[in-house]
Amino acid sequence: APIAAPDISKCGTKSLSGFKQVEDTATVKGTPTGGDCCPPDSSQILDFQFPKNQAFKIRPAAHLLSPKYIAKFNLAIKRMKELPEDDPRNFLQQARIHCAYCNGAYTQSSSGFPDIEIQIHNSWLFFPFHRWYLYFYERILGSLINDPTFALPFWNWDTPAGMTIPKYFKDPKSALYDPKRNPYHLNAVVDLGFDGKDKDTTDIEKVKNNLGIMYRYMVTNATDPEGFFGKPYRAGSSSAGSGSIEQNPHVPVHRWVGDPREANGENLGNFYSAGRDTLFYCHHSNVDRMWSLWKMMGGKHVDINDPDYLNTSFVFYDENKNLVRVYVKDSLLTKKLGYDYQRVDVPWLKSKP
Ligand code: C2O
Repeated sequence: APIAAPDISKCGTKSLSGFKQVEDTATVKGTPTGGDCCPPDSSQILDFQFPKNQAFKIRPAAHLLSPKYIAKFNLAIKRMKELPEDDPRNFLQQARIHCAYCNGAYTQSSSGFPDIEIQIHNSWLFFPFHRWYLYFYERILGSLINDPTFALPFWNWDTPAGMTIPKYFKDPKSALYDPKRNPYHLNAVVDLGFDGKDKDTTDIEKVKNNLGIMYRYMVTNATDPEGFFGKPYRAGSSSAGSGSIEQNPHVPVHRWVGDPREANGENLGNFYSAGRDTLFYCHHSNVDRMWSLWKMMGGKHVDINDPDYLNTSFVFYDENKNLVRVYVKDSLLTKKLGYDYQRVDVPWLKSKP
């Protein structure tokens, strides 16, 4: 059976112990609490409907943003941070969503398994969960600046010019700034295979390695849906295996940005805190873009059609503070959700190692 959306009124009451680093199973200091993870409760849940006459959005490459777009993005995040703490659209409340679905705050009680936690990583739920998460995040940002066309930029780490953290994230006066990042990586070329240790390679070699990694995880190791999306995850079971892109470069980018001076690689390097760094949303915008690109390759590159996958549900707060239930089956087509990605070069397609 599919995993049903969690009962958020039971958030954090059962476990909150399944605390892991994005990749490591190493012991982690300080367990997240309900205050790190649990959203405000809601007396009613609406079923998701595709908005009528929605404005179409094009998510732009983060390193190509105009000053005007940067200012809009900054203002939207600033307003999100200024919302009252208990508003579900508030910046920290939005970060909690990731903590709740990833750190054992929710169990599968709605599906009849109150002793088994929900963990949307490491399984076929990775792509659709994060797509829905960003979908509502983007709608909230757009509504806070009265711009329904506002679209989340994607951190274009799969192209040479996009392989560093865009400048505007690093201005301490900006709402996009996060002090908890690796200070040695702020101006460096990202390592899409980062395993916790910096490699002694030149920038040119790094770029070449990165393109090779992209090819391996988008093409070589992703020849069918299970290879790309990850292993099945059904009610009554635990998540059992991640798809190619979730492994690399998704996890390495988290760890590469996270601050090694913090106990658990906060913020981006850890599930419970990842959503507190604005870069998270641009990182995941590009991860989400990989889903679209992969399907454009044709052949066996199709969505999973298992009913347990398609009927899995989650709940998110929308821009009107309504709690909305969504299904995986409604997440498969970005154009139906009202957005697409700016067309840019895809250099790794020609980078067979
Ligand atoms: Cu839910 Cu990139 O992690």
